[in-house]
Amino acid sequence: MAEQVQDSRSQVVGDDPIANSLVLPIGSRVNERGRLEVGGCDVVELVEEHGTPAYIYAEDDLRSRARAYREAFERRGVDGEVLFASKAFPATAAYKLFAEEGLSVDVASGGELHMALAAGFDPARIHMHGNNKTDEEILMASRAGIGHLILDSFDEIERAERLLDGPMKVLIRVTPGVKPSTHDFITTGQLDSKFGFGAGDASSAAAAIERVLACDKLELVGLHAHIGSQIFELEPYRLAIGALGELAGDWCKVVDVGGGLGVAYTEDDRPPAIDDYIGTKVAGVREVFGDEVGILVEPGRSLVANAGLTAYRVGTVKEIPGIRTYVAVDGGMSDNLRPMLYGSRYEALIADRAAAEPDSTVTVAGMHCESGDVLVRDARLAGPAVGDVLVTPATGAYGHAMASNYNGVTRPPVIFCRAGAARVVVRRETYDDLTARDV
Ligand SMILES: Cc1ncc(COP(=O)(O)O)c(C=O)c1O
Repeated sequence: MAEQVQDSRSQVVGDDPIANSLVLPIGSRVNERGRLEVGGCDVVELVEEHGTPAYIYAEDDLRSRARAYREAFERRGVDGEVLFASKAFPATAAYKLFAEEGLSVDVASGGELHMALAAGFDPARIHMHGNNKTDEEILMASRAGIGHLILDSFDEIERAERLLDGPMKVLIRVTPGVKPSTHDFITTGQLDSKFGFGAGDASSAAAAIERVLACDKLELVGLHAHIGSQIFELEPYRLAIGALGELAGDWCKVVDVGGGLGVAYTEDDRPPAIDDYIGTKVAGVREVFGDEVGILVEPGRSLVANAGLTAYRVGTVKEIPGIRTYVAVDGGMSDNLRPMLYGSRYEALIADRAAAEPDSTVTVAGMHCESGDVLVRDARLAGPAVGDVLVTPATGAYGHAMASNYNGVTRPPVIFCRAGAARVVVRRETYDDLTARDV
C-alpha cells in the first residue's frame, strides 16, 4: 500500500499517463469527455460551478497517504505517532480529516492551534513548534493541555518557566548539523539556523537540556530534529538521529524526527516511498535509542502535496516570435508562492483535453504586477487557448497555506472531491472580505 501511494506507477493502469501520473492525485483519470477527473469529479464542470482559481483535492488520496504512514509503523510493530505538519495545509477540514485518520498534529502558531482545536483534535495529540512563541501562545498551549511544547531557545525556556503554573511536557529542538541537498530556504538542520539549539557548537543543546532538567515547570521528555524539506535521500535522517543520540539521557522517552520526505512536483521526481522513509527512521531510532523510546514523525507535504491541484482559467496567450509564448492565468503568486520563493518547478496540463498530446512549450504566467510571477517555465501543453482550464498538479502543500491578497485578489476556495461528489470546505473570499478588517 505505502509503495503504491508514494509511487502510483507501481499500480500501472494500462498505458494511461494520467492514471499513472506521479504528480496527480491517486485515482485521477481522463473521463469519457476527454477531461481531467479528480476524486471522481470532472474538473471543468467543477470550475464552471465554483470558479477559478480553485484548490481541488482528492479526499481519498489524503486519507490513503495518512494510512500509509500509520501502516508503515504498524508493519514494524511500532506504536509511532504521525503528526500532520499542519503548516503545509492549514484548513480546518484537513485537520478534521487527519484527526479521523488517527493522526496527531504539529502546530507552529496560536492560529494553527486554534484550527486544530476547532477541528476537534484531542489536545494531547497536538504538539507545538515555533522559534518565537509569544506569551499568549505559550499560555494558550498550556491551557489547552497540548501534548508537547517543543522548546526552541533559551529565551523561550525562561518565558515558559515564568508563565506556566504547572509542569508541561517539553521536547528540545536540536539542529543536528546535517544539511541535506534541498533548497537553502527549506533546510533547517544545519547549525547556522534560526531554529533550535545547536548540537555541536559548544553544545548549546546540552546546556539547554541541563537548564530544562533543573526547572520544575518543564518536564523534559525528549528531543526533536527537523533537518529540512523536500528531501530525496534517507541517509541524512540517520546522521541526524545519531547526533540526537549523543545528547540523550534517561529522561529521553520520545524522539521526534521531524518531517521532510520529498514529493513529485514533476514526473521526473522520484521520492522515496513512505514505507522506506519510516523504515529508515525507525531503524535509526532503534539502533541509537533502543526499543523503549517512542517515535514521532511530522510529515507535511508528503501527506498533502500530490492530493491537490490548482485549476485556473487561461485569459491571454501572448506569443513573442522567436522568444517565448506566455499563457496567462487568473491566479499566480498569490495562490502559489513557491516558484517565486524557492524557484520550485511544477507541470501543467489542460483539463479540457487531458489526454491530448502536448504540442507546445510555453511559460505559464500569473496575473500579478510582477515580471517574476511565473508559475511554470517550459510547460508542455496541448494547444493552450483562451478559456481553457489549466491545472498545475502537486499544489496541495504550502499553496493555500501561503496564499495572499496581493493585488487585491480574493483567495481561492478549497474543494474536496470524493466518489464524484464535491464539497467546498473553504469558500472563496469576496471583495467584502478585503475590506472587512478596515476600522
Ligand atoms: C518542525 C517542522 N516539522 C515538520 C515540517 C514539515 O515538513 P515537510 O512538509 O517537508 O514534511 C516542517 C516544515 O517546515 C517543520 O518546520
